[in-house]
Amino acid sequence: MPVPFFDIHYNLDEAARLSILARWARVLEHGGFVNGPEVRELEAALRAFLGVRHVLGCSNGSDALVLCLRALDVGPGDEVIVPAFTFFASAGAVARVGATPVFADVDPETYCLDARSAAAKVSARTRAVMPVHLYGRAAELPGIRAAVDAAAGRRVAMIEDAAQAIGTAHADFTVGGFGEAAAWSCFPTKNLGAPGDAGFVSSEQEAIAERMKRLREHGGGRQYYHEEVGYNFRMDSLQAAGLLQHLPRLVEFNAARRVGAQHYARLFREAGLDGEQGGPISLPELTPGHAVHQYVIRTRERDAVQAYLTERKIGCAVYYPLGLHLQPCFSSLGGTPGDLPHTERATAEVLALPIHPGITRAQREEVVGAIAACYAAMPTAARR
Ligand SMILES: Cc1ncc(COP(=O)(O)O)c(C=O)c1O
Repeated sequence: MPVPFFDIHYNLDEAARLSILARWARVLEHGGFVNGPEVRELEAALRAFLGVRHVLGCSNGSDALVLCLRALDVGPGDEVIVPAFTFFASAGAVARVGATPVFADVDPETYCLDARSAAAKVSARTRAVMPVHLYGRAAELPGIRAAVDAAAGRRVAMIEDAAQAIGTAHADFTVGGFGEAAAWSCFPTKNLGAPGDAGFVSSEQEAIAERMKRLREHGGGRQYYHEEVGYNFRMDSLQAAGLLQHLPRLVEFNAARRVGAQHYARLFREAGLDGEQGGPISLPELTPGHAVHQYVIRTRERDAVQAYLTERKIGCAVYYPLGLHLQPCFSSLGGTPGDLPHTERATAEVLALPIHPGITRAQREEVVGAIAACYAAMPTAARR
């Protein structure tokens, strides 16, 4: 049975489609296509959902990161500490504002920025640190802040890359409200996905939010008057209308992801594959508040398992196959293999399995059954 890695239709049943079309008809009526009333309504709904004082809709998560960086005056000559194991946009945004990404390693269990590695990267030019809530798990922000500030001997600004963390929670802090600013993505495959590109920023601080609002619209508070050079990073009203439809079901869908993760864990245990029982696969820890944006297993036989699943049309994906410190576009920064061992091991071993809320129990059984069959067919000598 083929299993799609992702299928947006889990969120587009007949009722949802009709409701989105009705919302879009209203946009066609009022004609405020860009940054219109739906964007304001969405910002208010997200403020309530996240529990963060300021939320501003924008074009996408990559631009949201640029808004955060610019609002904190990060620019040429500055360094920003970024985990090397993340989506490209985290570091790309730093380069886009003219600053230098300095790559740190991740914790091998959580895949999030490792506090000690981040602290070791601090220099006199460190302007900010950018933890990423990878795969929907909250990075340990208080520990990262304490370690980085102690190494710097001063307060270092923190930007949360929360692109994968819509619905993520942590007992000790508000995700998206702990750092000075946070960037979020509503790319269609995200836990809260728009019918196109969209994103938003959040901050507890009014001055930072005001600055991001201005930068979102060419750096001007008043039309045709510009205090600084900003961007056209506005959100389309059609995207906001789609997101307003989806937001009320986000909690339900994130709960379905957690149920899927628990089911996978049981299936792997029953198949004798779980690393905790001596099997070949490390399973992700389902911490409280984990939004399970991705369900990522880890195995030394990753490439063989990926090839086996792909051949049988069972969706899987590698997030991410190359550390950012080794990306060709950052070669001038001097990264070499061996610099960041946990990142490099993760890039060779991680494999994301289908986890979106439309995946059925039978499909998860198919996925784990195929992985078990892959191992059964694998000569023992091929296992590392
Ligand atoms: C960690 C991370 N940061 C930033 C982004 C950028 O978001 P967008 O695709 O909306 O520009 C993404 C999106 O995949 C992401 O996963």
